[in-house]
Parts: sequence; structure tokens; C-alpha cells
Amino acid sequence: MTAEPIRVSPGWLDLRERADAAARARALVGDLRRLPRGRPWVIHDLACGSGSMGRWLAPLLPGPQRWILHDRDADLLALAAAGTPGRAADGAAVAVETRLSDVTQLDRGDLAGATLITASALLDLLTADELAAVVDGCAGAACPVLVTLSVTGRVRLDPPDPLDARLAAAFDAHQRRMTPRGRLLGPDAVEAAVAAFRRSGAEVVVRPSPWRLGAAESGLAAAWLAGWVGASCEQEPGLAVEADLYRRRRLKQARARELAVTVGHADLLVLP
Ligand SMILES: C[S@@+](CC[C@H](N)C(=O)[O-])C[C@H]1O[C@@H](n2cnc3c(N)ncnc32)[C@H](O)[C@@H]1O
Repeated sequence: MTAEPIRVSPGWLDLRERADAAARARALVGDLRRLPRGRPWVIHDLACGSGSMGRWLAPLLPGPQRWILHDRDADLLALAAAGTPGRAADGAAVAVETRLSDVTQLDRGDLAGATLITASALLDLLTADELAAVVDGCAGAACPVLVTLSVTGRVRLDPPDPLDARLAAAFDAHQRRMTPRGRLLGPDAVEAAVAAFRRSGAEVVVRPSPWRLGAAESGLAAAWLAGWVGASCEQEPGLAVEADLYRRRRLKQARARELAVTVGHADLLVLP
């Protein structure tokens, strides 16, 4: 079992922020904007990291906004507090506060009064019980929930390589690994979340939000590749020798801007 929790590096979040912004399904923001709304926005961002969801979404929503950013990592919360979003879509003010929280332990009172709950790149890190706790907290708030960038396990590399499929299978198994908290959902998170939110009585809209990493994102593609191969080998140590040669081949392609990577994600808009 892997010791938990693994901390997410600020450098990694910084590197991925632009690709995340390009990947998130904008159509769901359109759906959100069309909903009737009686009060100013009070938005709880769960597991905010360095705050990229707010920097992306706040300028797309009209009207005054109060964001409450939750994370269990105080260093990332400090970065989020330092990098707050600018103004709303119509120039209205956006206020931000941070809360050191374990988002799987929030009770309904913690989210009371929310008009929107968001999360990004979180679901696949949770166990089934933790997901159930998050869904229950959201259901209590009875407001829309926008959950972006949950991995689906669909990865495509171009040009293809004979080792791609074995590495992908080992990576998915690593994402589903057992931890002291239980088994992580990994690529099963989207299906599990859709089912759990629907059981709570909500309507759920699902949209694809893949990263498409071409030449312009070769730095992110190289970093993602190193992490992908590393996790696959941790899961299946027998891959190490072949994977080392693979990594060199692929990094050479990325540096030469000859590698395109598509990493599948899905976004959910939950309507109570
Ligand atoms: C991959 S990062 C995503 C950060 C941010 N949402 C984004 O899209 O850039 C995952 C984040 O979840 C946080 N996290 C994971 N489990 C958590 C938990 N149980 N409670 C609070 N934060 C958690 C980590 O500290 C990290 O900031």
C-alpha cells in the first residue's frame, strides 16, 4: 500500500494550468449561466490546489462572486490566496477566502448557502467512500456542482508505439491502487460520480474535456509522460527496462515536437 496523502507539487499545477483551461468544457459554463439565480454567487471550490479553477471560471460568470477555496495543503492554499482571479465577466467584484479542509469530511453545514460547488482534477484521487461523502455534502447544499477534469483512462499517443497499451493498463491499475484510505477510484471515478449524483436525485450532464497536447504543449507532454511511465513502472516493476527505452524515445519525440498526446478527461455539471 502506498503511504498517503501524496502532495501535489505547485510546479505541476502551474505547468498544467493553461492546458486545463483549454480542456474544460465551456458548454457547461453556458448551461450554468442560463440557470435562474436569485442571489449573488457563493462558490465553494473543493480541493482548489493553487486556485486554477477560480482563475478560469470567475471571469466567465457575470455578477459579484464570493469564492471559498478548500484544500488540505496549506502551501497550495497560500498560492491560491496570492493568485486570486480578476473581475467577473461583467466587471463585478470577486472576493476570495481560503479554508484548510479535508473535503471528504465537510458536513452539510460547511457548504450551506453555496450557490455553486466546483472541483477540478479531484475525483480520481478519491475512494468510493470519500466520493459518497463529497456527493452527500453537495446534495445538502442543493445547488449546481461543476466537476471538471476527472481522468477517464483514455490515452492516445501519436505516433503509436507497441508499448503504449501495456503502459496504459499498468497506469490505470496504479490509479486504482489500494491505499490506507481504501482503493482509489482512478478511471472509474466518472462513472461512480455520475451514478452517485443521480442516486441523490440530481440531473447530471457529462462532457468530454481531453487534454490535447501537441507541439505548443511539449513541456507539459514531457512532464506528463515522465509521470505516466514512472507510475506504470511502480505498478509493474517488470516493465522497467523496456519502459526506460520507451521514455527516452518518447521524450526525444516530445523535444523534437513530434509527439501528440491526448489524455481523456470528463466534466460533469450536476443540477439538483
Ligand atoms: C490534482 S490537484 C488539483 C488542484 C486544482 N483543483 C486544480 O485543478 O489545479 C488535487 C488537489 O486535491 C487536493 N486534495 C486531495 N484530496 C483532498 C482532500 N481530501 N481534502 C482536501 N484537498 C484534497 C490536493 O491537495 C490538491 O491540491
